[in-house]
Amino acid sequence: MTDQPSHEIVRVVESDKELQQCCIQVRIDVFVHEQGFPLDVEIDAYDLNPGTIHFLLRLTPSQKPIGVIRGTRLSEAYYKLSRLAVLKDYRQFKFGRELVEALHDWVKLDALEKSTANAAKVVCHSQLPVKGFYAKFGYIPEGAEFDEDGDPHQKMVLEIPLR
Ligand SMILES: CC(C)(COP(=O)(O)OP(=O)(O)OC[C@H]1O[C@@H](n2cnc3c(N)ncnc32)[C@H](O)[C@@H]1OP(=O)(O)O)[C@@H](O)C(=O)NCCC(=O)NCCS
Repeated sequence: MTDQPSHEIVRVVESDKELQQCCIQVRIDVFVHEQGFPLDVEIDAYDLNPGTIHFLLRLTPSQKPIGVIRGTRLSEAYYKLSRLAVLKDYRQFKFGRELVEALHDWVKLDALEKSTANAAKVVCHSQLPVKGFYAKFGYIPEGAEFDEDGDPHQKMVLEIPLR
């Protein structure tokens, strides 16, 4: 494998302009153009949820956006991971790992601030080919496979100790 391309640290999206960089340039490239999901389901209710936070990973010095992940606080100490995507040319460089770890760091801080729970729970709906990716972080399958947006998915959950 060649060296990991030079990049910024994963950071929280703070402006509409950056959000568009996530949504349009990365999510649509991966989920719509590469994977064939319909464009009209790409922007969903979580994008409008005030408990949602978007993270972005960009190359340096070009500032080309290459990776995104979205986190939503669903209830006390309960979070959803979604819309994780790394552009095809930049996979297997640990960028997916950096995005997930940034999301987990946010979950820990947010849950410690907003709840007294001993652990935070994170849920994701994994596409079947990436179940092994989530398993590397300790996510465990829960329940049967189900259809989401016309494609089979598996609910996977992770408990993150807080205290
Ligand atoms: C899933 C995805 C984000 C992974 O990104 P990535 O940058 O290639 O992953 P990383 O290089 O950070 O991989 C981290 C680890 O997971 C492993 N891994 C990566 N993809 C995997 C897969 N599909 N299945 C099992 N393990 C996988 C890597 O080998 C690496 O293992 P290691 O840490 O033991 O060496 C990327 O493949 C992607 O964007 N896919 C298309 C969109 C998608 O399916 N998103 C998920 C929707 S549920």
